[in-house]
Formats: sequence, structure tokens, C-alpha cells
Amino acid sequence: MYDWKVAYDNWAPEEQPLREALCTLGNGYFATRGAFEEADADLQEHYPGTYLAGGYNRLVSEIAGRQVENEDLVNWPNWLPLTFRHTNEEWFGVSRVEVITFRQELDMRQGLLERRMRFRDGSGRESTLYSRRLVSMANPHVAAMEWELTPQNWSGEIEIKSALDGRVTNSGVSRYRDYESQHLEPLQQGQHNEETIFLKVQTVQSKIQMAQAARTRIYMEPKGNEVERTLQTEDGYVAHHFKLKCEQKRPLRVEKVVQLQTSRDKAISEPLQDACINSGRQGSFTHLLEKHRLAWQRLWNRTELQIACNSKAQSILRLHIFHLLQTVSANTIGMDVGVPARGLHGEAYRGHIFWDELFIFPFLNMHLPELTRELLFYRYRRLPEARYAAAQAGYRGAMFPWQSGSNGREETQQVHLNPQSGNWLIDNTHLQRHINGAIVYNVWQYFQATEDMEFLTFVGAEMILDIAQFWSTIAEENTKTGRYEIHHVVGPDEYHADYPDSDEPGLSNNAYTNVMAVWVIQRALQLFQMLDDSRVEELLQKLTISEADIARWRDISHKMYVPFIDQSNIMAQFEGYEQLEDFPWQEYKEKYGESMRLDRILESEGDNVNRYKASKQADVLMLFYLFSAEELIHVFDLLGYPFKPEHIHENIAYYEERTSHGSTLSKIVHSWVLARSDRKRAYNNFKMALVSDVEDVQGGTTQEGIHLGAMAGTVDLVQRGFTGLEIRDNVLWLAPVLPEEIGCLNFQLRYRSHWISLQFTHDKLLIVVDKGWLKEVQIGVNGNVFTFQTGDRREFNISR
Ligand code: BGC
Repeated sequence: MYDWKVAYDNWAPEEQPLREALCTLGNGYFATRGAFEEADADLQEHYPGTYLAGGYNRLVSEIAGRQVENEDLVNWPNWLPLTFRHTNEEWFGVSRVEVITFRQELDMRQGLLERRMRFRDGSGRESTLYSRRLVSMANPHVAAMEWELTPQNWSGEIEIKSALDGRVTNSGVSRYRDYESQHLEPLQQGQHNEETIFLKVQTVQSKIQMAQAARTRIYMEPKGNEVERTLQTEDGYVAHHFKLKCEQKRPLRVEKVVQLQTSRDKAISEPLQDACINSGRQGSFTHLLEKHRLAWQRLWNRTELQIACNSKAQSILRLHIFHLLQTVSANTIGMDVGVPARGLHGEAYRGHIFWDELFIFPFLNMHLPELTRELLFYRYRRLPEARYAAAQAGYRGAMFPWQSGSNGREETQQVHLNPQSGNWLIDNTHLQRHINGAIVYNVWQYFQATEDMEFLTFVGAEMILDIAQFWSTIAEENTKTGRYEIHHVVGPDEYHADYPDSDEPGLSNNAYTNVMAVWVIQRALQLFQMLDDSRVEELLQKLTISEADIARWRDISHKMYVPFIDQSNIMAQFEGYEQLEDFPWQEYKEKYGESMRLDRILESEGDNVNRYKASKQADVLMLFYLFSAEELIHVFDLLGYPFKPEHIHENIAYYEERTSHGSTLSKIVHSWVLARSDRKRAYNNFKMALVSDVEDVQGGTTQEGIHLGAMAGTVDLVQRGFTGLEIRDNVLWLAPVLPEEIGCLNFQLRYRSHWISLQFTHDKLLIVVDKGWLKEVQIGVNGNVFTFQTGDRREFNISR
């Protein structure tokens, strides 16, 4: 990686699946993996997946003796196919030629994927190929590619094929191959006009229709050479074949512009009609590229983070922002979608939406807050389903699912395959009720960044109150201790989903969950002071919240139980945690490295990870990630626990030794919580999180989709973690602790209708309140608050 580019200088078949994921192009409406245009899915090297935001379908499979229904983010028809052959020979494919030179570049500034190749076929014919591709950020329904093929030492007749291929399945994740995967049925294919072919398909259960129209043009010198065009179709497939004569050293240019519409689109009549009509309105590749480049320029202006003094971190952070914006962008607005944990880049986790938004929204809040607002609406629209789920489980209020897809029902799989042992295992991770704390946290953070009172009043408050009601009813009073407890849950550490030798799923009193529940209830109570009385009344009536309910909330906010280990100041991850066995970390780290999926490893050895003090990822430490020491101490004070800021370090040290980092989110949290006390170790954790995807540290997971939480989380670590950026009491606080390796950092952020630009070095901080439509803003630097007016510029000495 360098500067704005990810570049590959050789053809390496074994790396291709990873490269395809990392070179995905998308625009927040749909995305397509960086597979070669000429490649079919072969389950080894090439997997040209195309995914639509919100494009889900359900299928029933027979797995381990039971019928299971899964909802998947569908792999839609492949619009890439473009290839050529010499008459009556095999179609071109990278594995069928000798590659002489190869270079592939992803240009993140422009959102352009390029490939240059020189190759020789079995008959000694040498050619060069220069291909460029974009998925338009300027027009979400458009993608385009251009091929320039030059015969280097030959002339002769060739055939070019440009196709749309809907005969695809969801086969990108090998663990899922026992599941049904045929999500699409063909509806129609053919030719719209001389230049344009079309294909229409539909998902078999959700009945979402997609139409693609592809306009292919061929340009060659000398002009006037005859090109013979024929149409080929079969169910779910359509192609234009072109026969033409090539001349040595004369480049041949092929341009394919694709229009993509679905039945989920707004402002259309019917997907196929609109796809065909709109495709005729598109300009040339060059024209589309220019519009696309400008759209990216606008996005980068808002989101760039400059670390000129650390070029490696700079490039990788750019890649992370790039993939985040390709998954959610202004084009996502109005689509009613959430943020899939693995982007629109692959099929892992079936495109489901988890709590990862917690790691993603803070970045969006500070640059594209209108997008967070939109993404929070995804949850809001699914409140009825969450209320139903709460009622079914015997609670009141709203209980959101751990994994969410189309309509907000619980999508967590019931059984999962351990690829290491080949065994199917019961999956109880849906008991991660803490997702409900994350949703409130996200609403609250959005409000802090924007002061969007309309949103809070009409949308946010309803979610907060309904979720508070859920926490209040899942909490049970223990009459012996007088404290409230929460049972049958799973914390962020998914390794522990039940007690060893217990038949009951779930754990009791996960510290993170219990504290989050109290924090949510406190926010709900705070709302009663913030909202106008009439709105409070409306909400209480609508959500049937009574005086007695509110009295219970107050009681819980003072009496929730938080487990501690043996009279110490260390929170127990859950009740009974201290009784688990110690884990032989050294032995396993030597064998499997720093980050490992101990659940899979131990199960394949006939053991069970839930017997040990061994966590998959940060669990208790999440509290120090999400809350400042001040906020936490406040919660503990109200609860009557003598927890003090100095105890935080004991907790960090304790869990650091007991975490396997089996999730890419874990290193982010560990870096964050160390940022103030140990910059070196904080940076080391940051560095590991930074390369999670580019170096595929989990060995084969990135090819199934990028880890968007880790990508956005690393950017946020720089933006908020290392700068001490926090919004509290209507002040934007900064307390920089830049690691030695990041000696300079510039970015601008959006805060309550101001654009504020920040420039950090180890010694100085320059704050410029650039533009905005409010007069004043309060900014705190290392504990002192200053009032800034629009146009103000101040420098602070921050050397320690
Ligand atoms: C992690 C979860 C995360 C999910 C999706 C899992 O491996 O344990 O915390 O939400 O991946 O990224």
C-alpha cells in the first residue's frame, strides 16, 4: 500500500480471494467484489459476488437433522463478465495464459480498480490488457468498466463476450456449503436495443426483483471495421457476442455500462423498464468516471484523516474509511438498511447486522451525522418486531435481536459448524441482550454530536424508553440481597454462552450487561427532564409506561447487582467467573499465535472453552471503552459500589491476560483502554487491529468479507481515542495522548453544526472553528473550557 493506492505487482492465485474482498467497489447501495471480469466463480480463486444493501432472502435447509431457516444477504447476478477468445478457442482466463507482467491497483481517491497485464497464450500470441472499473458513487444505480486490449505480436479475428449472469448462488463461505444457496430465480432476459442486453431475476422467498441492463460499445482503429454482434440467452443469462478483426499494436477498447434497479428502489415504475431506459441515458466511461471522482472528492473532503508522518497507518486508515463509505454513504439514505458487520464485501455472517455499529457510528457522527440518523431509523422501524420479541420472551418493552436482517426478527443461527472439528454445535449467542444497550448508546452519541432534538424527541426517546422498559422487566429482584439481577444472557465474550455442565443456556449477571442496563435506565430517566411534558405524556401513554414502572426504574438504577471477584475491585465478567479454571495461555499462544479462536480449537480437542477463564474478546473492558472514568464512577456511586478510577487498571491487567482476541474488535478495545496509561502497548494493539484485514490476521476470514467494525474502530481510535475527544456537558473535550508513532494528525469534524479543524503534534494543538451556522461552541482542552466563535483559531501548548 502506498499513499492512495493498494497495489499488487504479481498474479498470486492463492491471494486472490483476499484481494477480491479488499478490492471490492461499492457505493452504499450495492457493491461488487474485485474479481476479474473474465472469471467465473470457481470456489477457489475467483468469487465475483455482488451484494445489494438490504437485499436479503430466506431459505430452509436440513442441517444436523433439523430444519433451519436462514436469511442471507443475496449474491445477485454478476454484471462483470467481459472476456474474449480467438475464434473457436477457449475463452481468456488468467490461469489459461502465461502471465508476463501484472499490476492491479485500487485507487482509493477515485474509487477506481485498474489492472494491467501482459500475457502469452499457448500459441505464443502476446497481448496487453488494461482494465478499469467503477461502481458509481455519483449515481448509485450505475457501474462501468473499460477494457483496452492490444495485440502485441498478432492480428486476427476474435470474439468478445459481454454478459449478465444470474445463474449464481451464495457459495462464498465454505462453512455454509451444506446450506441451501439458490436464492434467485430467473424472470426475463434479452436485448433492449442494439447495444443493450438485460436480465431480470427475483429472490425466491422475499421476492425482491433486480433488473440489470448492460450497454456494450466497442471502439477500434481504424474506424469502420465491421463488428458483428449476436445475442445469446438462456434462463438467467444473457450475453452479446462480438466478432471482429484485430490488428497488431492497434488497441481495441470495450466499454460496458451497467444500470441496476431493484423493486426496493424509490422513484421508479418497474425495475426492468427503469434499468433499460436509464442505461440509455448514461454517458461514456470517461464521463461517468469524472462524476464518480467528484463524488469521492466530496466524501474525502468530509472524512479524511491525515497522518503525514506515518505513511503505513495513513494508507491503511484510508482503506478503512474507503470501505466504510462504500458500505454506507449518502446513497444509503432512504434504503432502510443497517450496517452489515462484514460490509457488502462477502457472505460471512450472512450480511447480518450486529452490535458493530457501536464501533462504526462514532466516526460517522463526526463526519456524516445525517447517515447515522438514517441508520438509526433502521432500528426504529423494527421496534414493533423488537416489542413482539420481548413479549414472546415474557418481558415488556423492546428487545432487539442480536443478529438482524430484513424485518428485525432474530437471525442468529441455531446451529453452527466448527470447521476445525466438522461438528455442528448449538448456538446460544443470540442471548447477547447487550445489543439493546448498544442501540441506546448509539442514539445518545448521535444526539451528543448533533443536538438533534427533533430526532431525540420523536424517534430516539421512543427507543430509549422502550429498551429501558425491557431492561427493567428482564431484571429480577433478589429478595435476599435486595439487588436486581439479570439471568440467561451472554456477554460480548461469546465463548461463554452457558455454565460448564449446565443444561440451561446463558449466564447470570454479566457485568457489562448489568452496567449497560443501568446506564440505559438512567438515560431514560434523564429524558423526562429533557423532553417537553406533553411529549413525555404521549410516550408514556403510547408505550404504556406507568408511574409504578418508573419507580422500579429508579430502584434498579440504585440497586443493580454487579459481580466482583472475591472481594476485590475486579469486576467478574459474570457471576461465578472466578470458579472457572485457569487456561494454559502460554502453551496455546505458542501453538496458535496471539489471536485465536479458542472455542473452535478446544472443541476440536474434545474440550470446552467455557470451562476456562478465557474470553474471546473484551467484555468487562467494554465499559472502559464506552465510558469515561467520570461517567462510570458516577454509575457505581449511584449503585453504592466503592469503585474508583484507580481500579480501572487492575481490571484491564486482569482481563488482558485472559483474552484470546478471537474477534477483530478486541484489539481496538484493548488499545483504547490503554491509551492513557501505556501509549506503547496501546499503539501495539492499534497496530494489530490496523492490519486485521490487510494482512488477514485471522487466516482466511477477510476473503469472506471485511471486518467493518474493526476498520471503523481503528479510524475512531485515532480520531477519538488518541485525541481524548469526548462530548460531555455540552463541551467538546480534547485531551490528546498521541502515541509516539503518530506525531502529527489533522482532520476536520462536524460538531453541532460547525466544521472544526484540528491539527495535532506532540506539543501543539491548533483548533480552527471554520464554518457553521451557530455562533459559539465550547471546546475543552486538557481540562480547561474555551468559547470559540465562527472564524476563531487558537493554538495550545500540549507538551507533557
Ligand atoms: C464477534 C461479535 C461481532 C461479530 C460480527 C463476532 O465474531 O464476537 O462481537 O459482533 O463477530 O462482527
